[in-house]
Amino acid sequence: MYKGLIRPLLFRFGAERVHHWTVGALRIAGRTPGLRELLRRMFTLSDPRLEREVLGMRFPNPVGMAAGFDKDARVFRELGLLGFGFVEIGTVTPLPQPGNPRPRLFRLPKDRAIINRMGFNNFGMESAAENLRARGDRKRPIVGINIGKNTLTPNDQAPGDYLKLFRRLYELGDYFVVNVSCPNVAGLASLQTTDYLLSIVSPLLEFRQGQDTYKPILVKISPDLEQEALDGVLRIVTDTLVDGVVATNTTTSREGLHISRKRLDAIGKGGLSGGPLTSRALETIRYVRSKIGLSYPIIGTGGVMTPSDAIAMLDAGADLVQIYTGMIYNGPSFARKICKALLTRM
Ligand SMILES: Cc1cc2nc3c(=O)[nH]c(=O)nc-3n(C[C@H](O)[C@H](O)[C@H](O)COP(=O)(O)O)c2cc1C
Repeated sequence: MYKGLIRPLLFRFGAERVHHWTVGALRIAGRTPGLRELLRRMFTLSDPRLEREVLGMRFPNPVGMAAGFDKDARVFRELGLLGFGFVEIGTVTPLPQPGNPRPRLFRLPKDRAIINRMGFNNFGMESAAENLRARGDRKRPIVGINIGKNTLTPNDQAPGDYLKLFRRLYELGDYFVVNVSCPNVAGLASLQTTDYLLSIVSPLLEFRQGQDTYKPILVKISPDLEQEALDGVLRIVTDTLVDGVVATNTTTSREGLHISRKRLDAIGKGGLSGGPLTSRALETIRYVRSKIGLSYPIIGTGGVMTPSDAIAMLDAGADLVQIYTGMIYNGPSFARKICKALLTRM
């Protein structure tokens, strides 16, 4: 029904507009008791065999919503009703910011892909804190908080932004992701160099030491890193108390696309996600796993467009997987379908 009827209808409208409608519809459904129950029945699959013990927590299943869908923590609980075992909210920045000018979100249906240059549009950490608190602890999925610097913060002051976010949101998230790999914020990806990254994570680790509760910290990496730079990031993971890696963010590569050159040029810059990213993300995960060994969790994301892609990602060494573009192309039952496929494989 989704692919035959709903998707063709939705794809007639601008991608960002449809995103807002989706979030709006989820919010209404989440506040309507009958609908809430209906969503849960239709889309969630509870089975102890799907549970995973990762990062010191018990995930009800290994399928999560990737960062960028629920930037302001407005629908994380509703995403739980769609069968996601965990939701990564954000990227949250300290101050609200509008992001890049529109249009900034484009579908590439022939490639089952998306190009986005949203640029960390979000209402800032106070709004996220309020939403996380207001929507409280009652029945929520595991929530990761993806943090990033404001666009106007120069790179040499970036550590201050990450620390502000970590302190303010510490009690409100289950794990944290340091996002230094978004291609849509000028200069952000250069924070992946060893010195910069260390200057960002060290204050977070120090802050965490003084807390009563322990919140895992992961680093989200780009699929476009050269091997030497990637090795540098992984050394920080293994040499400090950073807990794991999220691999990968979107790519700036445009290799192997079916879309016409003319249309691609008209779209312009942005991070590519979905089908064209599948093999690159898998390759990165395999490499990261071989480098950091078995004791560091990897959350795999990038081009999971079918349940088999999710299984391949887990086989490549990911402990958990996240989807975003896959849900746009497969619809709201995609998390459940992946869970079903996992059970079938057992
Ligand atoms: C519209 C859009 C917005 C995104 N925003 C963010 C973001 O704010 N922070 C982030 O770390 N990743 C962001 N991402 C990247 C996703 O979290 C994910 O890493 C990437 O899309 C690859 O997964 P996919 O192929 O399943 O979409 C965004 C992706 C899309 C499509």
